[in-house]
Amino acid sequence: MTKPTTNNVGIPVASDDDSLTLGANGPILLQDHYLIEKNAQFNRERVPERVVHAKGGGAFGFFEVTEDVSQFTKADVFQPGKRTDTLLRFSTVAGELGSPDTWRDPRGFALKFYTEQGNYDMVGNNTPVFFIRDPIKFPDFIRSQKRRADNHLRDHDMQWDFWTLRPESAHQVTWLMGDRGIPKTWRHMNGYSSHTYLWQNAAGEKFWVKYHFKTDQGIDYLPQDEADRLAGADSDHHIRDLHDSIKRGNEPSWTLYVQVMPHDEAADYRFNPFDLTKVWPHGDYPLIKVGRLVLNRNPENYFAEIEQAAFEPTNLVPGIGPSPDKMLLGRLFAYPDTHRYRIGPNYTQLPVNAAKSPVHTYSKDGPMRYSNPADPVYAPNSYGGPHADPALAGETASAYGATGEVLRSAYKQHAEDDDFGQAGTMVRTVLNDEQRERLANNIIGHAGKGVSQPVLERVFEYWRNVDKTLGDKVAGAFTR
Ligand code: NDP
Ligand code: HEM
Repeated sequence: MTKPTTNNVGIPVASDDDSLTLGANGPILLQDHYLIEKNAQFNRERVPERVVHAKGGGAFGFFEVTEDVSQFTKADVFQPGKRTDTLLRFSTVAGELGSPDTWRDPRGFALKFYTEQGNYDMVGNNTPVFFIRDPIKFPDFIRSQKRRADNHLRDHDMQWDFWTLRPESAHQVTWLMGDRGIPKTWRHMNGYSSHTYLWQNAAGEKFWVKYHFKTDQGIDYLPQDEADRLAGADSDHHIRDLHDSIKRGNEPSWTLYVQVMPHDEAADYRFNPFDLTKVWPHGDYPLIKVGRLVLNRNPENYFAEIEQAAFEPTNLVPGIGPSPDKMLLGRLFAYPDTHRYRIGPNYTQLPVNAAKSPVHTYSKDGPMRYSNPADPVYAPNSYGGPHADPALAGETASAYGATGEVLRSAYKQHAEDDDFGQAGTMVRTVLNDEQRERLANNIIGHAGKGVSQPVLERVFEYWRNVDKTLGDKVAGAFTR
């Protein structure tokens, strides 16, 4: 039996076809409140798109711990045998909500674990490094990747101008211009925390940790010409691939490994271990297996479950804390702030964002709040309200010793810190001849689109600093 259409409060309606008019040809009447409700609701359908990572898709699944890493963290989610429900959202960074999935860009890898100790979010990318190392530059960087003020066009001159003026971008730009800058599908790429985090075990010992989710489908990429073709032929290629794979029962999975650095090794490590433009070479800190992430359920309602999903690096559970990475600390502010604006201050009450563990908060009221704490509404109180746990104080929240003057400064240098070394290592020792050739061609193709001569000169220098042969090759392509 078909269900009767009702309005938003369940009252049956007379028609979804004809408005209420005075006579068949007459004017529409203001008393047609169903017509008004329908259009007023429609006018308010959109929430603002994410300021970055607007285009994306995702799926639900689980994370299963297959090994024992309890010597490094007491976090419930990483205890042996533990299985936790998850949501994973993939995205491009610079494009808008309807932009093609196959544009060259890093991809977001945002993971929410619904743990028994509250929600834990690991909001990473498909690259282990980033373009900048201080959050004060994030709005500038993103504006250089988005659109010009005058003609609203994306502009390669603006992109290379920023990159070449900020040489710490070289490692990430090398990655971006290489094969992994356009993954074949979201299933065929890795996810990295990129940042270093702090882990603490039950005995109170502390470790610095980086996460690597390695795809079990194998890494694969799209050549530039195929990506360009798909941008027109099937601009939602990656959303479609993920959805169809899961629907067919072909459930993608990733194996989680961590690199673990004992707490006291950070101060004298050859690179600054908290600098987001650097990796920890595997030879120094080998990968340690933790478990398996599986995606097995498509969202049933994209807007409710993916568009309104709110990931925040702030969501860290006992046993996991932030490191002194300045970018990570900047992000701790940015995400809850943008969610309050984009979705509304009570975004944590939406089903996709709500914890599956009990919530006993003193937060209350505000727009669209539907579940409120009972009395007492203040702390401390003598009427049985929840009590904070002093045992958690000073644990992982800010558990690194920081002293010194208040100042604005670059990071203190470690022995081998520089902007180009690790990018050069990738070009010379990780890539093979064909990959190096494609890297050079991608750079030449990209910088060949509207980049002005003074900026181009810096582009040549930038790549010569990464690798002399590569830089000469790029320069040669423009001076023939
Ligand atoms: P390794 O030889 O141990 O690791 C190199 C890593 O490079 C591989 O494990 C792989 O990472 C990644 N890689 C392979 N092909 C490509 C490609 N086409 N584009 C981008 N990355 C690729 O060396 P090191 O650990 O000493 O690192 C050497 C360089 O490799 C670094 O300077 C960095 O540029 C790059 N790299 C290092 C990573 C790290 O965490 N140590 C991670 C990724 C890259 P994966 O196994 O994660 O796919
Ligand atoms: C999304 C800020 C760096 C990964 C976002 C959003 C903001 C933001 C405001 C939109 C969130 C939303 O509307 O839901 C910042 C700032 C950064 C920074 C200020 C640096 C200071 C990074 C880095 C990574 C990253 C280094 C990866 C390691 C992501 C991902 C998303 C995102 C994956 C999309 C989350 C989702 O799928 O909803 N970022 N970001 N960001 N960011 Fe960042």
